[in-house]
Amino acid sequence: MLNRLKNLSSEFLNILKESSSLADSLGFKVYLVGGVVRDLILEKNVSDLDIVVEGDAIVFADKLSEVFGEKLQRHHSFGTATVNFNEHKIDFATARTETYSHHGVLPKVSSASIVEDLFRRDFTINAMAISLNKDDYGKLIDLYDGLVDLKKKLIRILHEKSFLDDPTRILRAIRFEQRFNFKFEDKTFKLMKTALNIEALRFVGHHRIRDEIFLILKEINPYKYIKRINDLAGFYFINSQIELKQKDLEIFLRIDHSLTYYDGKLKNHKVLQLYLIYLAGILCNLSLEKVKKITQDLGLKKRDSDIIYSIRKGLTSIKKLANYKTPHIIYKTLNFYSRESLLFFYAYYGKEVKKNIKFYLNELADIKLKTNGKDLKRLGFKPLTAYSKIFKKLLYMKIDKRFKTKEEELNYAQRILDRLAEELNP
Ligand code: CTP
Repeated sequence: MLNRLKNLSSEFLNILKESSSLADSLGFKVYLVGGVVRDLILEKNVSDLDIVVEGDAIVFADKLSEVFGEKLQRHHSFGTATVNFNEHKIDFATARTETYSHHGVLPKVSSASIVEDLFRRDFTINAMAISLNKDDYGKLIDLYDGLVDLKKKLIRILHEKSFLDDPTRILRAIRFEQRFNFKFEDKTFKLMKTALNIEALRFVGHHRIRDEIFLILKEINPYKYIKRINDLAGFYFINSQIELKQKDLEIFLRIDHSLTYYDGKLKNHKVLQLYLIYLAGILCNLSLEKVKKITQDLGLKKRDSDIIYSIRKGLTSIKKLANYKTPHIIYKTLNFYSRESLLFFYAYYGKEVKKNIKFYLNELADIKLKTNGKDLKRLGFKPLTAYSKIFKKLLYMKIDKRFKTKEEELNYAQRILDRLAEELNP
């Protein structure tokens, strides 16, 4: 296992070495756990770490963050803490056991040993740990044959009640199955079907569903994940009216292709919330009111629900774009929409609409005026309240005529001024 740890960045290795000394001096047992261990064995990149402490995770994280001069976020009610080391996040948790009073609710937790902590986990491939204490630094703790299952490419739960205790594991199982191209172990698949038959995902709160769905929609090319969920379960757990037929699934494949095409091509743009484009695909056959209600239930941020809502609302009007030829009309139609919405429309519509969206994104969206308020004032424009209208006219003209220089803009501004003067003194 030591060799596998060596694949970590030197920054991480440094942190692990410090953790090792600190663990010994505090008398705690400390482990790297869960998905990180899985990914190290699979030789995937690891960007965040999960550390479990037999002892007190907050005390441990506090001391470690002090060594590196980093800030710590404590979550006392969960006995956990998070430290951000540059771009990397490390979560610290006190080893715990979980008991579920009802299906789908959050469990009651109490401190426990690493053995119990590993047993509470979702799948064997996620239930391995690597010891960080000095005397057994790098030793793999694999109590449930996670390594064998990783080699056999199997998703296997640890106990019969796993999917009922935490039905979000159904979605997690599908996510790992699709991400790694693994198979469900037979009994696991049967138990998953049993949980699906009683619609166990209905027991889960909307916000937890949202978190799991977003994780799925953030995977690379989520089409196959969405198709698999639809085939196995449907999306009733988001809303009972969602029903996706085979032909409705095409949109997700088209979104995959559009996003691959636009990957890195959109300049001047903040990080896009691409998963919203897929969520819009899941919701786009529902009424506007229903879409609004679902985004509220899921507790989406205002910007995110606005994007979904405007996509649903734009579905009918954007169709007309196919007939538009004048650049500023195309600009006017699309300028109101977020990049996410445009990418959705690009995926959704046929050739003509696509062509205009591409034209807008490649050539129109970034056109800006060089003229400012002071320039208009110098030309003698009054009153100031008319400025925004004039800027708009000027911009549309620039878009249609493709003015390159400020002089061309100012010439046109002068013509608007002359026309205004004529209108006032005919
Ligand atoms: N876990 C679990 N049951 C859940 C969620 C998480 O048992 N419903 C455990 C698993 O051991 C998992 C670990 O907590 O590996 C960390 O969870 P998370 O960060 O959500 O998952 P990862 O396995 O790290 O997956 P990813 O690669 O998507 O981050």
